[in-house]
Amino acid sequence: MRRPRRMRVKDSLRELVRETRLSVENLVYPIFVLPYEEAKEPIDSMPGQFRLGYRNLLEEIKEIKELGIKAVLLFGIPKEKDEFGSYAYDENGVVQNAIKIIKDKFPEITIITDVCLCSYTTHGHCGIVKDGKVLNDETLEILSKVAISHARAGADIVAPSAMMDHQVRAIRNALDSEGYIDVGIMSYSAKFFSSFYGPFRQAADSSPKFGNRSSYQMDYANAREAIVEVEMDILEGADIVMVKPALSYLDIIHVISKKFNVPIAAYNVSGEYAMIKSASEKGWINEKDIVIEILTSIKRAGANIIITYFAKEVSKWIRNF
Ligand code: PBG
Repeated sequence: MRRPRRMRVKDSLRELVRETRLSVENLVYPIFVLPYEEAKEPIDSMPGQFRLGYRNLLEEIKEIKELGIKAVLLFGIPKEKDEFGSYAYDENGVVQNAIKIIKDKFPEITIITDVCLCSYTTHGHCGIVKDGKVLNDETLEILSKVAISHARAGADIVAPSAMMDHQVRAIRNALDSEGYIDVGIMSYSAKFFSSFYGPFRQAADSSPKFGNRSSYQMDYANAREAIVEVEMDILEGADIVMVKPALSYLDIIHVISKKFNVPIAAYNVSGEYAMIKSASEKGWINEKDIVIEILTSIKRAGANIIITYFAKEVSKWIRNF
């Protein structure tokens, strides 16, 4: 007679038959960088996360390296903004400087950079705005410049997150024509119009000053459309495709991982982080157990790569898991 409980008798047996395991090599740690030498500003809405100056950034990289984390995703908070997000491709911009500093001291770390305009535009939208509309093709030119400037500084992978149509093709062409054929693209392919980004926008000072992002980010009611977005990005040259947020979108991760043969990343976003932090601070849930359960579910759904603000804690916890 079949008795599934047989394989649950003791730890060593359960471990033997465990199907999904978290590993630190698959984690990406997001970091917010400020254009100053010295800074460590706590982010209120994301307890335990900071906006770091260059020196503090290096300290952080040293720490994560010791924990076994090998990849970071960089976001910059610029000194100045304008209507077109021009500071996003400044050779001496905050992300460009951060890349150079990390590359110089820790060349073995994989540096991924967010390629978007929302932190760099005065209106807070991810593209150029005209008459209240976010323009697609005009934005592609700027995103390409941003990607090239990151590649020039030494980024390993650029991650376009503006959700403009054909942003992957534009960036791939631009990188290739400048000779950056080895710089990869991790596309935020299925990025949903989500309320889970709230805490991030406080951290990155990137909230739209009018309207919202529903004309470019995906309607969260749509699963088939996510397949189209991913398919387009792969055809346009994405090396890695991402689903974002993660937790309410496990179905999307699952379908995409079954359908496409490229690495799948999932972004365990700021709102997901903040919910867990606040409930665990109140003592209502056990942070460690919940985080491991959630990240395991993201991997079980089909994600190969998990971008998470919990990366540091998790890397400590899973050593004995
Ligand atoms: C930039 C961007 C956002 C996030 C990552 N890149 C915010 C947004 O789209 O408004 C969100 C990440 C998070 O919530 O942790 N477009």
